[in-house]
Amino acid sequence: MDLKIDISGADVSKQTIDSYHPAVERAMEKLWSGKEDFTGWVKLPLQYDKDEVEQILVAADRIQEQCDLLIVIGIGGSYLGARAAIEALEPMPGCPEICFAGNNISGTYHAQILDKVRNKEVCLCVISKSGTTTEPNIAFAVLKDTLIKKYGVEQASKRIYVITDKEKGVLCEEADREGYVRFVVPDDVGGRYSVLTAVGLLPIAAAGIDIKAMLRGAEAMASDPSWDFNATDYAVARYALMTGDGRADGKGKQIEIFEYYEPQLQYFAEWLKQLFGESEGKQGKGLFPASLNFSADLHSMGQFLQEGNQIFFETVLDVLKPQRDVIVPQGAGALLAQKSMNSVNKAAIAGVIAAHRSIDVPIIKIDIPELTPFYFGQLIYFFEMTCAITGYLMDVTPFDQPGVERYKAEMKKELAKGSKEMVC
Ligand code: PA5
Repeated sequence: MDLKIDISGADVSKQTIDSYHPAVERAMEKLWSGKEDFTGWVKLPLQYDKDEVEQILVAADRIQEQCDLLIVIGIGGSYLGARAAIEALEPMPGCPEICFAGNNISGTYHAQILDKVRNKEVCLCVISKSGTTTEPNIAFAVLKDTLIKKYGVEQASKRIYVITDKEKGVLCEEADREGYVRFVVPDDVGGRYSVLTAVGLLPIAAAGIDIKAMLRGAEAMASDPSWDFNATDYAVARYALMTGDGRADGKGKQIEIFEYYEPQLQYFAEWLKQLFGESEGKQGKGLFPASLNFSADLHSMGQFLQEGNQIFFETVLDVLKPQRDVIVPQGAGALLAQKSMNSVNKAAIAGVIAAHRSIDVPIIKIDIPELTPFYFGQLIYFFEMTCAITGYLMDVTPFDQPGVERYKAEMKKELAKGSKEMVC
């Protein structure tokens, strides 16, 4: 069984979907042509470098032998995919604990990581395509200092793993100078599309998760002739919901809410938010991607969803076979007693869908058979493809992010003012 995408609750008719077929064909041709910038991820699952994957597995084994804490340093596309996989899938017992740094500039957060380093055997995995991003640069500087104090320069350099550009940038130069183990972020794959490259694969493998199964899942998705109908139908449904095309009131929606009922999917939803937000949000266009963790958020945002401003549609991520279960004891009362907790969760999913459909909220449902590496690989490829197609339908370039430079320039101006106050 593969992922199943049900758009029957989206209120987008087959006629509307079909009317976009020529535009979708053009988008698919562009994506598969190999001529568009940053589309290396499209054929990646079908022709990835098998030798490199073996080298990644060797490095992952070495990390597992060297340490009990692996700190993965990176931000945005250089960390969210790995974190999504490691939190969604079960890391192998006995593998190093993985924690993440350089994804914020909080002194408190990083001081807490430094506390952990004291009593553990540690390795660093630094991921930055450009090698110039402020957040990971600060974290790497701090943690490298700590590692050198702990192990000395020579031993510290054996514990640092770098994933960066093939030949340029300060990180690449430093890695070669200091003899760090180094892997490459391919030129033709942008950060948020890079989970199935070394960027995601090394940290995921270090956690003992089967990366070959993950790649097989993506490969199965990319090579199955039926998969593209799922991705293209979903892409068209999203686009039609945004424009209001084919809707009785003609009104478009502005927000897509990704809803999940397994908290393990929290960082997968964060990855989705980055993928869609950075790919579509340009030239005044795009659906704003949001996420909600159910049933927790039903007790905070549930009111808004049921009776608030209907500017959104919902995409439900349903894990059909959760990893574990618990039987509810008698004390929980007659309605719940002796039921499996997962069956109660299923009732919540059905109940929420019924309640929201009763007021015509469009709902797309994505069934994930199980949270395994194979299906995780399918999910990654499915959403990347959906996002690229919707981006083309919106007439934006889904692979750049010119808007994120602005805050960096303003932040540099602030730093240049030279304030060193607040040093404690
Ligand atoms: O998707 C992207 O391209 C971005 O989110 C980048 O991954 C992020 O800005 C980090 O960049 P870098 O890998 O150059 O440090």
